[in-house]
Amino acid sequence: MSNWRVGAEHELEITGLTHEGLGVGRVDSRVVFTPQAIPGDRVQVRIVHVKERLAYGELLSIVEKSPDRREPSCPHAPLCGGCQLQHMDYPAQLQWKRQQVQDALERLGGLEVEVLPTIGMDEPYHYRNKAQLPLGRQGRNVVMGFFQRGSHAIVDLSGCEIQHPLITRLALAVKTAVRDLGIEPYDEVRHSGVLRHAVIRVSFAHSRLMLVLVTRTRELPRAQELIARLTGEIPELASVVHNINPQVTNVILGRETNVLWGDEYLLDAIGHVRYAVSPLSFFQVNPIQTKVLYDLVQERLHLSGRETVLDLYCGAGTIGLYLAARAKKVIGVETVVPAVEDARRNAKLNGITNAEFHAGRAEEVLPRLIREHAAVDAAIVDPPRKGCEAAVLEALAEAGVPALVYVSCNPATFARDLSRLTGLGYKAGPIQPVDMFPWTSHVETVSLLSRT
Ligand SMILES: C[S@@+](CC[C@H](N)C(=O)[O-])C[C@H]1O[C@@H](n2cnc3c(N)ncnc32)[C@H](O)[C@@H]1O
Repeated sequence: MSNWRVGAEHELEITGLTHEGLGVGRVDSRVVFTPQAIPGDRVQVRIVHVKERLAYGELLSIVEKSPDRREPSCPHAPLCGGCQLQHMDYPAQLQWKRQQVQDALERLGGLEVEVLPTIGMDEPYHYRNKAQLPLGRQGRNVVMGFFQRGSHAIVDLSGCEIQHPLITRLALAVKTAVRDLGIEPYDEVRHSGVLRHAVIRVSFAHSRLMLVLVTRTRELPRAQELIARLTGEIPELASVVHNINPQVTNVILGRETNVLWGDEYLLDAIGHVRYAVSPLSFFQVNPIQTKVLYDLVQERLHLSGRETVLDLYCGAGTIGLYLAARAKKVIGVETVVPAVEDARRNAKLNGITNAEFHAGRAEEVLPRLIREHAAVDAAIVDPPRKGCEAAVLEALAEAGVPALVYVSCNPATFARDLSRLTGLGYKAGPIQPVDMFPWTSHVETVSLLSRT
């Protein structure tokens, strides 16, 4: 068909949005996905990639604007892969996120469960505490920023609407210093050059920064000059870490990490709990909404102080430690060993003596933990995007754990797991989406499941 080929142009009505934030339109009965288009838009697109029943379009112009459309406030929005929904009003994003969860539960999980309105942010800007910024060259220029949508070309950062301003300040200082000192950025195509990524973390509680410089090579040339310059320019910089990643890979961090200057950990706090976060540990990226999320978990579990609570996929022990004062015992499980060490250190840091943490995969460690503990009264599961192994859910059900709080960052795997848990005798209360990532297509949910 001549209208179904790369280069063909079409006018489309956008009627939906994929979970990646692409506008959904149709040409006859075939689907076209277009970035930067939202429901209610009528747009002119050019087909850029064709498969049998679907195609990807490039937005050429907006013929008629959706009432939910806004002018992106970030100049990088049309290209940058960091945000997908800069062109959508914030209340419409919140509504869409709720709908996305509802749709996933119905279509993928075959479930009818109440989904509450998404809890958004009062000020949905500059909320991120972590940026992973690739470096490269464009011509003679050193560039550093975010990957373009669907490519590894780098959008050279000049500002960012969602990062904490200190992250942007340090990022710009790193880029200038790297250029001035002649430190060669990594060349992904040739697998040559030195500096691959700058990973920057900021503590919202203390306004302190950690910089992780990821190199292909064992050496970071002119490291001392770089540190002297950055610490002179940015007094909030508390730690400079060197991570070595010699592999040909998209994974950012390598195995070897050495502190070059300053602190080994970044100290932060969520509510009443203090956390020391090491360079390789998972820590939620939106600390303001993390408090909302952890308060919700606490509220849903309604602990009396007599319960033994499992915290599966616990990262640096953050949720379990947040709840520890209300439980008899907290038992965390996490696969990343440095995160488990962080969790133990974090317990000490807060004077918490009723929490223990185990290194290993939840599916392997859980059966033993259940055998060892007479009764588990509640479990929190907060898995990565791929969700839980069936064995984890089966072990929880077999042990008769009466209450589960499932924290999910992926509605599709959440729907699958909820459907499995329903089959295992659990019933879900209302699902609460929380917007941890404004202007992006990501959604987080919390729900309490009780044994029927
Ligand atoms: C979404 S994070 C949650 C972290 C923590 N609950 C928090 O709020 O900061 C998921 C965590 O699961 C860990 N993880 C991934 N697969 C795992 C597995 N099979 N068993 C245990 N932990 C796992 C990851 O390393 C990561 O720290």
